[in-house]
Amino acid sequence: MGSKDLVNEILALKRERNAVILAHNYMDYDIQVVADFVGDSYDLALRAMETNAEVIVFAGVRFMAEQAKALNYDRVVLAPEPNAGCTIADALDAETLRRVREEYPGVPVVLYVNSNANVKALADYIVTSSTAVKVVKKLKSDVVIFGPDSNLADYVARMTGKKIIKVPPNGRCIVHGNYTTDMVREARRLHPNARVMIHPESPFEVLQLADFVGSTNQMIDYASRDSSVEFVVGTEIGMLNALRLKVPNKVFHPLTTGPYARCPFMAMVTLEKVRRSLRDLVHRVEIPRSIADAIKDAFERTRRLLEG
Ligand code: 13P
Ligand code: SF4
Repeated sequence: MGSKDLVNEILALKRERNAVILAHNYMDYDIQVVADFVGDSYDLALRAMETNAEVIVFAGVRFMAEQAKALNYDRVVLAPEPNAGCTIADALDAETLRRVREEYPGVPVVLYVNSNANVKALADYIVTSSTAVKVVKKLKSDVVIFGPDSNLADYVARMTGKKIIKVPPNGRCIVHGNYTTDMVREARRLHPNARVMIHPESPFEVLQLADFVGSTNQMIDYASRDSSVEFVVGTEIGMLNALRLKVPNKVFHPLTTGPYARCPFMAMVTLEKVRRSLRDLVHRVEIPRSIADAIKDAFERTRRLLEG
């Protein structure tokens, strides 16, 4: 079946099922085109809460689909590829977090949204790359337990001046965690007129060489607003699809096309699997109600803090 037929079948199934497709900015171009909303982790979590659709197909990795399920417990949430994990999320288990929490009684626990559901349920606050600094700044405590991304933890520590207890000490993204200062220098040499945007899951010495540090949606805003025409994109390479669709009048170059360009977990999600999800109503994301309630509470608490 051609890609056009597949797209038409997906659009028809979407209507039939009263479904929406939420897709992360890293998804393949064709998936972004059929999606109802494309965004960063925070935006997608908010969209998941706003939809009236009976079925949510989450084109992204597992922790994102679990987040959508926690916020929409009574809806059907489908993950096109349930085995799409995340090296950051898989770096932290509930037992380790419980132990650290006991070691530092009264210290708030702030978890990155890239956490598995049973771990995230233990958080006081849940942040994304676009909200982490703001949330930690707003907390009264000068000491914060933060995880599982070690680079984001470093960035938050630098930007807030607070003492960050990392849990675990070494959680890393398979893409951003492998960025180097040499990659940035080489990109600047190849594209001397470009602004360099880098995701905060990258090592701090790499971030120091950037013109802009932010989440994937924040990169879209920055590229739209900035007077430059050319940009180096220091995040997963699927992001070029989102930038080319949303900021079509500008030019984007990947920071690297090497082995750390594409997230292998994001790449597991294909248009065919999105179709299968809608057609066969698979794979349903199921998490215990108590875990979903705890995640929703922490997410709402974080939202109130941000808005307060
Ligand atoms: P954001 O889209 O929230 O910046 O997240 C990036 C990411 O790596 C998600 O897996
Ligand atoms: Fe996880 Fe990194 Fe892949 Fe995002 S890009 S899902 S943070 S491994």
